[in-house]
Amino acid sequence: MARFPASWLDELRSRADIVQVVSGYTPLKRNGHRYWGLCPFHNEKTASFSVDPEQQLYYCFGCKAGGSVIQFVMDIEHLDFAEAVKHLADQLHMPLPQMEDDPDYQRRRDQRDRLLAANREAARFYHQTLFTPDGQPMLDYLKRRGLSDNIIRKFGLGAAPNAWDTLTRHLLAQGYTEEELRLCGLTVVKEAEPATEDRPARPRRAFDMFRNRAIFPIIDQYGNVLAFGGRTLGDGQPKYLNTSDTPVFNKRQGVYAANLLRKERHLERVILVEGYMDVVSLTQYGVTGVCATLGTALTSEQARLLKRFAPRVYLSYDGDSAGQHAILRGLDILEAEGIPARVLDFPDGLDPDEFIRRDGLQGFEQLPALSPETYRMRRLKEQYDLTTQDGRTEYAKACAPLLSRLEPVELENHLQELMVQTGFTREVLLAQIGRSAPRAVPQPAPAPHRSVPRSADPAVDPAEERLLALLSTGRVPTDIASQEDFEDPLLKSLFVELSHGQSPAALVEAQALEKDRARVSQLLLSPVSAGSTDELLQMTKECLDSIRRRHIQQRIDALQQRITTLSGQARQEALAESIALIRQLNDLKY
Ligand code: UTP
Ligand code: MN
Repeated sequence: MARFPASWLDELRSRADIVQVVSGYTPLKRNGHRYWGLCPFHNEKTASFSVDPEQQLYYCFGCKAGGSVIQFVMDIEHLDFAEAVKHLADQLHMPLPQMEDDPDYQRRRDQRDRLLAANREAARFYHQTLFTPDGQPMLDYLKRRGLSDNIIRKFGLGAAPNAWDTLTRHLLAQGYTEEELRLCGLTVVKEAEPATEDRPARPRRAFDMFRNRAIFPIIDQYGNVLAFGGRTLGDGQPKYLNTSDTPVFNKRQGVYAANLLRKERHLERVILVEGYMDVVSLTQYGVTGVCATLGTALTSEQARLLKRFAPRVYLSYDGDSAGQHAILRGLDILEAEGIPARVLDFPDGLDPDEFIRRDGLQGFEQLPALSPETYRMRRLKEQYDLTTQDGRTEYAKACAPLLSRLEPVELENHLQELMVQTGFTREVLLAQIGRSAPRAVPQPAPAPHRSVPRSADPAVDPAEERLLALLSTGRVPTDIASQEDFEDPLLKSLFVELSHGQSPAALVEAQALEKDRARVSQLLLSPVSAGSTDELLQMTKECLDSIRRRHIQQRIDALQQRITTLSGQARQEALAESIALIRQLNDLKY
């Protein structure tokens, strides 16, 4: 980033009158040698924001914001130092130091001012025409689309009359040259054409770019009118005609309604939609912070611009397939710029305008804001047949790279969702994602000094045997466990006897079968009691958790087998039940 010479910065500071700059954001009143107003950085009812013209400093006694004019521009426009300096220099028509020697600078600077002035005059002309007989069809059209007078004024909507050169003549009369109007994209010039066999010679003609259309002026965050979009009143093509790039407009860098975004303070999120009408309509219904890209996919320049207005961006594109595809690309762009994003997914292929007319502000606010991963998983899910094992397997594989980027806590929710959808256990999914399970996997409890001998029967959960051995020491209360914790019939009956106060020796003797006697004595006499009472209790709890976890998992597995065969209400219920079980599973500590 270019360094600015100190002398040049001094000059900038002295030329940029802080009172005037601040007044652009909040009205100031003189009182004594200072100016006072409502602080633009926090909400307040009494003026505690002061500007000192002598020192060229501002200070808020409420929120303690303060500094020079450059600091003010940095904070209010969310710019870094160099950007704020450039912004101020631009407004003061001060060439940047590296440009001072550029003879072309002044010419381009002047041209830019002229073009912006022509655009401003055009916007005013279109807007005024809307309320004259020439603009009646456009006004009728906008009214038919449900727009109020207020919202029409707020967006400065207008009418391009159904004639060849009304605007061009108006602006030429104001002193703008044909070349300037052509550069603005307001006027189209057709050179003279000699006669051919079929037709007579054509003179050189200059006519309006926008004819017989409703006009949406594109205004940047500083209030400059940069360009226009014009909508046909019927089914004519193209539906929207837009100003192409000009010396003052680059459609990849701006967004529609940036001027209104700037006025919204403390926005939580910006809502990015696809169309002019979506912005206007959502705003009329009371949604704040809405803007649109200008007929292109979201660019990184636009993403960075949005970041200046709010910490988060909600993509709410049309519900059609083009819109849905654009969301995936938009998410990638936002992610690359490090901007947290959410997706508002509109049902029934509606666009935001159609949706809010149907379901109102309330319906809009109730739309869930999906995380990028949920949205991407949803889109992936459409590509696989989850009623088949193959489909579920491929879907799980496709989701793995998405989830591998998440923080553990974020991962958790998605993992649960994926377990329900695919029927794979958490361990399998974590392995696929390339993560080792934290403490979620039922680990066998840490071995005591000597381990409990394993049952010869592999179907018996070692944790059950271990639990019984621990309970039989007499040093752990038996009511910590219950009959349901034991699946093995012999272990279950031993537990019942133990909890009725039988001694281990009596339990061994009570076994009628030789092999049971051997197994029981081996179990009960195993030296698990080496640790302290606290350690024993801890080991017991770990066994219990491991057992209970396994039991819940079995129920989930069974449910998921069933879910693949269910539909409708029954399927919903089974899904809800398995989600509840998954929650239970996660509530278990070990
Ligand atoms: P849509 O076709 O979704 O328009 O294009 P829309 O906003 O729903 O329009 P209405 O409701 O029919 O009036 C979305 C955006 O794509 C650009 C415009 O910016 C438009 O708002 N577009 C679309 C064009 O630039 N030209 C077109 O011909 C069509
Ligand atoms: Mn629409």
